Amino acid sequence: MAGWWSFGGAFLLFFGILVSYLYKINWIKDLRLEGDNKTVLANHLESKKRKLGKLPPVYPNGWFALLESSQLGKGQVKHVAALGQNFAVFRTNNGTVRILDAYCPHLGANMAEGGRVKGDCLECPFHGWQFRGSDGQCDYIPYADKVPHVARTKTWKSCEANEIIFVWHHAEELEPHWQPQTNSHVSNRTWRYHGRNEFLINCHIQEVAENGADSAHLSAVHGPLVFTKIAHFLSAFVRHSWTNINWTPHNSFLESLNSKETELERQDSENLRHRAYMTLRHRLVLFERFEVLQLDVNVKQIGPGYVELMMHTTLGSMCIFQTVTPMEPLLQKVTHILYSPPLLAPCASLLFLGECLMFERDVAIWNRKKFEKRPLLVKEDKSILAYRRWYAQFYSQHSPSYHSAIKSLQW
Ligand SMILES: *[C@@H]1O[C@H](CO)[C@@H](O)[C@H](O)[C@H]1NC(C)=O
Ligand SMILES: *[C@@H]1O[C@H](CO)[C@@H](O)[C@H](O)[C@H]1NC(C)=O
Ligand SMILES: *[C@@H]1O[C@H](CO)[C@@H](O)[C@H](O)[C@H]1NC(C)=O
Ligand code: FES
Ligand SMILES: [Fe+2]
Repeated sequence: MAGWWSFGGAFLLFFGILVSYLYKINWIKDLRLEGDNKTVLANHLESKKRKLGKLPPVYPNGWFALLESSQLGKGQVKHVAALGQNFAVFRTNNGTVRILDAYCPHLGANMAEGGRVKGDCLECPFHGWQFRGSDGQCDYIPYADKVPHVARTKTWKSCEANEIIFVWHHAEELEPHWQPQTNSHVSNRTWRYHGRNEFLINCHIQEVAENGADSAHLSAVHGPLVFTKIAHFLSAFVRHSWTNINWTPHNSFLESLNSKETELERQDSENLRHRAYMTLRHRLVLFERFEVLQLDVNVKQIGPGYVELMMHTTLGSMCIFQTVTPMEPLLQKVTHILYSPPLLAPCASLLFLGECLMFERDVAIWNRKKFEKRPLLVKEDKSILAYRRWYAQFYSQHSPSYHSAIKSLQW
């Protein structure tokens, strides 16, 4: 098989170089569609004519990425509008990340625009009030003798994992009962950062991860060769094959537990019910006969807005972290962040480029589809229902509906 591998490798390298050349190398490093506001605007306008469907709540409960760690240095503050909130995200001088409501309760200045980090506090730029990052209490008013007890602002829990800053969002304001875990390859720096991309997508958040449970879309959407835009003639004899597809929610382990399992194991399983897993195997099929470039992918869906994709090639493993954050009820910001062993960097970049192009195909569908509450499914689609049942755990009584969320965005 080594022979086929080097043939496949040379094949992919050739087209990789061709494509990299056409798209410019640095496009791989930082492929931002955000800058492409014509597309975003066009999608947005188009979405006005679109049928919505009967939507689930628009902001699920869980951890959502707001920034990447590298975007927030010590003593910096950034404004992020997401999940129907305006967050002032800041990093104190000892490295702790804090999140406050951006609007100062005094006279409503946006503290993230020109505010300053003072110890564990954020100082408002308008009159200099200082609010503690830990609990939102006002600590100091430069011109007043006494700080009233009611002078406080809202805080959100934050955590940092895999160089991503997350916020805990919960409609009932419950405390977090799980957290994104740090990947040890990333934290001990055996795998390095090799690039990121960013997309803005007009769809409901639940639709993005639903793809993982939708195995039938793989050959329809991701079957045709990834580089056919450029080398159309190739599509006749090269395609992608997707096999060994399996989607399982963690809670299905709960059902499979029998009486022999200890209470501890049962508890452990219950604690991980925010997770779901998917496996799939990719191969490139040449002339409907030869299979090259096998890639095994293990996907961990962790809560409503975070996914870890582990990719195992014969040359080694690498991973992509995917974050999905609702910026507006039907506007998702999706980022992919790539980590790989330094020696695999060229391979990882090509794979990442392939992933970007594949993802753009999904985006094209999401941007135009409606949410189908009662889909017309066949037996082979049953994971989609299992996925929807699993995802429903992230909604609660006060989760905002599309209409309530839209209303709160309007002036
Ligand atoms: C639109 O994109 C250009 C660059 O592509 C950028 O300079 C500009 O600020 C963007 N405008 C908006 C409104 O985002
Ligand atoms: C930074 O300081 C805050 C209090 O000011 C403390 O709660 C936190 O644990 C400190 N973090 C580190 C990494 O030392
Ligand atoms: C880093 O973590 C990975 C995964 O746990 C481990 O296999 C590897 O040996 C570690 N490397 C170092 C240098 O600690
Ligand atoms: S508005 Fe913030 S201190 Fe006055
Ligand atoms: Fe897809």
